[in-house]
Amino acid sequence: MSRVEGAGGQPGPGGERRFPDGFLWGVSTAAYQVEGAVSKDGRGESIWDRFSHAPGRTFHGDTGDVACDQYHRIGEDVELMAELQIPALRFSVAWPRIQPEGRGPASRAGLDHYRRVVDLLRQHGIEPVVTLYHWDLPQPLEDAGGWRSRETALRFADLAEAVAGALSDVGLWVTVNEPWVAAFLGYGTGEHAPGATDLASAVAASHHLLVAHGLATRALRARLGAEARVGISLNLVPAIPASDAPEDLAAAGRLDGLTNRWFLDPLLRGRYPSDVLGRLSAQGAEVPLVEGDEALVAVPLDFLGVNYYTTRTVAAAPVEGSFAGLGVADVDLPGAARTAKNWRIDPEGLTALLCRLSSEYPVPPLYVTENGAAFCDYVDPEGEVRDLERVEYLAGHVRACHEAIARGVDLRGYFVWSLLDNFEWADGYSMRFGLVYVDYGTQRRVPKRSARFYAGVARDNALGVEGAGAGSVSGQ
Ligand code: FCB
Repeated sequence: MSRVEGAGGQPGPGGERRFPDGFLWGVSTAAYQVEGAVSKDGRGESIWDRFSHAPGRTFHGDTGDVACDQYHRIGEDVELMAELQIPALRFSVAWPRIQPEGRGPASRAGLDHYRRVVDLLRQHGIEPVVTLYHWDLPQPLEDAGGWRSRETALRFADLAEAVAGALSDVGLWVTVNEPWVAAFLGYGTGEHAPGATDLASAVAASHHLLVAHGLATRALRARLGAEARVGISLNLVPAIPASDAPEDLAAAGRLDGLTNRWFLDPLLRGRYPSDVLGRLSAQGAEVPLVEGDEALVAVPLDFLGVNYYTTRTVAAAPVEGSFAGLGVADVDLPGAARTAKNWRIDPEGLTALLCRLSSEYPVPPLYVTENGAAFCDYVDPEGEVRDLERVEYLAGHVRACHEAIARGVDLRGYFVWSLLDNFEWADGYSMRFGLVYVDYGTQRRVPKRSARFYAGVARDNALGVEGAGAGSVSGQ
């Protein structure tokens, strides 16, 4: 029997798609993207401070120095969430606020800040979800090897312990956000901090991020007991072969291997996929496995966080000289709608992904911990941001979640990336993902149409007729 009305994608009797009771609706953010105040109260330097200040690394030379100034404006932003009636906030703690050197005693000011964030959220009835690592590694740890070094994973366990002590009432914890991005863009392609371009380093980093996840999970459980639910968020990108030709099927398999199975298999099956191990080894990149690591990485998860934005359709390309021996070429599907980041909009891909995870892996409950889109938003002469493309994007993906639940997937929540427009890593401030527009000159917040729409979905725990209903597209 289906867990939801409107099974099979058909609307329920009232015309809407209802979600199971207790489904958690939220928004996601990350410290470096919103906080600013990078030197305040003893915060240390992170790899993103160093990287964004280096010439040519980010669009326009943008940095997170000020960002959305949320460190100072957290009260106002939580009030805005409360006005919009958004039930949950997933935010990350900045490691360099808590341990400016990446090791040693935790800073009182750093912990107090996040204690205050949790208190503010609770006062407004908003559920906090804490991410321990969203890419802002303390620079001193990078200087000592960063994620290439196992030592960083050990230090991360100390961070987990300190944060758990200060925020012991938080019920949902994400250890690491998107290890693929942190490892392969940070140490492989150099598009992200720390900007290294060495495949062996990237592979070592990916393993140490998973070890860090395992150690942090143990530390959280030791401190918080079974009450705390602990998971990890992976960016999963379905790889679709451009044709049935064996070369294209193989190319899609390679991409799926490195982006998806490389993390899913060790986390959920206790071993790295042998095909990917073999290809990486042929490229001179070995996993620095220590005895017991496989069990440590596969520590049972209370939930798996899925960050979903897009799918990629790929054809075979020469393997030689390609990054990680991937040998894939993206194929442009004529007519496919795309976001400002040029990511193809594919809500059905989300349903397929969630169903695949449930059928192929022994998965715990799932949460979509990030989903959203950048568009060229602007404040119009009436003072409004009519981001109807985002409303459509969100409606499509919420519908896709409903469809997955109707097909039996145990999906417990959905988080939009992001609450506010913010510092979009190497793209600086050029990409606006927020439900709320930020005028960076004045820090004025302007809720977009999509904020009203999403608030309606969350309030009704349902997507209305034609994607409207409670969260009607007119937004009122
Ligand atoms: C994800 C990141 C998040 C944000 C979105 C657009 O990969 O986790 O910080 O940049 O993409």
